[in-house]
Amino acid sequence: MSERPVLLAIESSCDETAAAVVRDDYTVVSSVISSQIALHAKWGGVVPAIASRQHVIAMNGVIKEAVETSGFSPEDFAAVAVTIGPGLPGSLAAGISAAKALALAWQKPFVAVNHLEGHMFSAELDGGQIEFPAVYLLVSGGHCMIIYAPERGKYKLLGSTRDDSVGEAYDKVARELGFEYPGGPVIDKLSLQGTDTYQFPRPMMNVGYDFSFSGLKSAVRREIEKGDIIKENIATSFVVAAMDLLTTKLMKAVREYHPRSVLVVGGVSKSPILRQMLTGSAFKDIHVIFPSLKYSTDNAAMIGAAGWWQFKEHGPSPIDLPMMSGLSLPLAE
Ligand code: KG4
Ligand code: ZN
Repeated sequence: MSERPVLLAIESSCDETAAAVVRDDYTVVSSVISSQIALHAKWGGVVPAIASRQHVIAMNGVIKEAVETSGFSPEDFAAVAVTIGPGLPGSLAAGISAAKALALAWQKPFVAVNHLEGHMFSAELDGGQIEFPAVYLLVSGGHCMIIYAPERGKYKLLGSTRDDSVGEAYDKVARELGFEYPGGPVIDKLSLQGTDTYQFPRPMMNVGYDFSFSGLKSAVRREIEKGDIIKENIATSFVVAAMDLLTTKLMKAVREYHPRSVLVVGGVSKSPILRQMLTGSAFKDIHVIFPSLKYSTDNAAMIGAAGWWQFKEHGPSPIDLPMMSGLSLPLAE
């Protein structure tokens, strides 16, 4: 068994209560995720008050399971890392309180991690190798960004969404079609059965790196409101338009910045269609790196990897650091 040090990581920024034990080479010893999806499904999205309540209920059990299955004891941990933001305030508070309490009780360093950086480390877990400079497409329920990183920890935001994230658009289209939250997986599956008969618009497709998904979403809604629709074709036409926007901008960044690694991370990176498009003929000379499916959506292992890097690079965080629900990426000048 490797003797490399381990830390405990906790994540609770949205609707997954998660804890993981991760080594300093980003190998995952244990990773436990308690999903609240069933509680939010009928509401069509995450209900913040339900989410924070459920984190409080699940948190201790999730941490206990991650620690016990890792085989390590509190004295073995080099630090306790946690997502400090961005996210829902009530959700973040549950994980931060638990992490601070453990760090104090165990007398271990406390490490506050940016959730977005967590996603950016997700493809490096369990042996994933990347090189810099890198270009990231971060596509999740809360974010849609293209980031250029000339080196580890230095970020230039090339573009982000001006309205909805792509995950949000998926979820809203799913709701219009009468499906429960989260819509991503349902719409993806349905889209494999249809054809692109609706040819939805691709707003801002050839304008810079920013995204806009609200126009696409409204076009889908208008079509649904007309009635007499073929759900499969709506799903296919929406997915093809959304993916076209994502892949076009990613390709533009690759051509302009010539990165050594191209990464696609965040919940929407689970999409088989997106993975297929980014490994297809248009991208044949570019090796696009994805996290393994279990680390695409929110998890604590990615927070552990980002936490290790941050701890080694910048040391521990102050224990009285407040929650930062609106945190963005630390950008280089
Ligand atoms: O990264 P994530 O777990 O949470 C945030 O940080 O926001 O992403 C959740 C998002 C949801 O909007 C969900 O609909 C979407 O990821 N998603 C998918 C798939 N699985 C989850 N989108 C497209 N295809 C999927 N298979
Ligand atoms: Zn996330």
